Amino acid sequence: MKRSETQELVAGESLIEPRLIKAHIAAAVFWLIYLIVGGGLLVAIKFTWPNFLGNIPELTWGRLRFVHTQTVAYGWFVDIFLAAIYYMVPRLTRVKLASPTLAWFNFYFYNTMVAMGVFQLMEGHNLGVVWMEYPSFINILMLISYAALAYNFFASYLRSQERNLYVSSWYMMSFVIWATLNWIMGGLVPAYIAPGIASAVVGGLFIHDLVGLVVTPLATAMIYYFLPVMLRRPIYSHSLSLMGFWSLAFFYPLVGIHHYYYSPIPMWAQYIAQGTSFMLFFTVYTVLYNVYKTMKGRWGDLADNIALRWLIGGTVFYLMVCTQGPLQALLVEQPLIHFTDWVIGHSHMALLGFGTFVAMGFIHYAWPRLTGNELNKSLSEWSFWLAFVGCAWMFIDLWIAGLLEGYYWGYGKPWMDSIVRLQPYWLSRTLSGVMVLTGFILVAINLIVTARAKQPATDSPAVLAGAR
Ligand code: HEM
Ligand code: HEM
Repeated sequence: MKRSETQELVAGESLIEPRLIKAHIAAAVFWLIYLIVGGGLLVAIKFTWPNFLGNIPELTWGRLRFVHTQTVAYGWFVDIFLAAIYYMVPRLTRVKLASPTLAWFNFYFYNTMVAMGVFQLMEGHNLGVVWMEYPSFINILMLISYAALAYNFFASYLRSQERNLYVSSWYMMSFVIWATLNWIMGGLVPAYIAPGIASAVVGGLFIHDLVGLVVTPLATAMIYYFLPVMLRRPIYSHSLSLMGFWSLAFFYPLVGIHHYYYSPIPMWAQYIAQGTSFMLFFTVYTVLYNVYKTMKGRWGDLADNIALRWLIGGTVFYLMVCTQGPLQALLVEQPLIHFTDWVIGHSHMALLGFGTFVAMGFIHYAWPRLTGNELNKSLSEWSFWLAFVGCAWMFIDLWIAGLLEGYYWGYGKPWMDSIVRLQPYWLSRTLSGVMVLTGFILVAINLIVTARAKQPATDSPAVLAGAR
């Protein structure tokens, strides 16, 4: 194949805006590394050496923890989700983005907001609502971003001639609507409207809507879009995929109170949360059954296809986290694990294992097609295995630590004894984090090297696949 033909294939008659998608991927990966280096790792080190970094207010535990978690949700995830939306929607609707200028404005505006958020948190300005810690003026300004996204998103569907909505479109639509409504609910009600315990109820609903109606739908949209594309075969069952979607929409909004069991929230509300949490088995297993049936006879592809490996790795973590979730949401199990590192293990397996691995699948699939160059194979292998082994190490470490804490507290031992007992586990968590970080740094290096390579490998699969 000649180079000119190759380049035409890559640029193609593409409907997408490759530079915009690359910019969002680059920003997302930047935030991913920042949230670990400038947040998670420092916070983890302080568990072992509390005086690490001295008394500089900006670098104290209470500020950096929220830099870490807010950047997870709003830096890494929202940026990578926007990249994925800009990649999938034009293909699913077969129309170009209504306003690339607005999308570019949003890119700069949104990322400036996240950077301002980091600065404000480090300066000690925290709204005090779990997962909604940026000060209110940033939360309000961010609504401009959601409006800009909603305009471009719905304009595509309104102008589209496509009669059928593929399941990824359902999930993405719900993301755009729920993310905005949830943002308004979390940003306004707990801090300003609902008093006392009612604010905890709304806060609990907000937390789980954030993971269940924002992160989960977009990650699921990516799985349903990229799995068939990577395998070049249709998804096993369209009906099953819609059953999964509607059960998510029905059960998820009610589960949030499981964050505040045994609190003064009325018991009937806690029972509803327990029941609906358990029903999520059904939601999740329909998705995973569909995924693994689609994979039938193709497991061997995992050996060579690095993007598929990240994606399927993410679904395995999804299976584990969503088997763990409904069980830990039982009132009978809560006294053992609540407030312990078990929950931190669960949240890392959810967002780092499930969400991040699926997103990495998208990045590794799209980047060669956006740049016209193959990713470096050995960097790809190293980054995947470092991240995968590091994650498994971290999750197991935190679950053991959590169970130990639960037993110490359950038997009424002095709290300080549990702190001393946990020291080796916290150190081990930090080391596992270094391993994961190294994996992600290699991903970043791989993306940079690939983007900068001058000579596209003209007959490589990535280039032959072009910008499809
Ligand atoms: C599908 C079934 C799931 C159920 C029933 C479930 C249940 C729970 C429960 C009961 C807690 C609170 C534990 C405690 O504090 O004692 C929790 C925490 C958490 N879950 Fe899940 N989970 C599920 C899936 C997920 C998924 C898919 C994600 C992410 C995409 C996720 C992310 C989180 C996070 C981040 C927390 C910690 C929130 C915080 O307190 O900061 N979970 N989950
Ligand atoms: C790889 C190195 C990382 C390390 C060492 C690390 C460490 C930590 C630490 C120490 C905390 C605070 C725990 C506590 O309050 O007791 C935390 C919270 C959290 N981290 Fe990380 N983290 C890392 C990466 C990540 C990544 C990449 C994600 C997601 C993409 C993530 C998601 C979270 C979440 C969701 C919480 C809040 C947990 C909760 O409130 O239940 N972390 N992390």
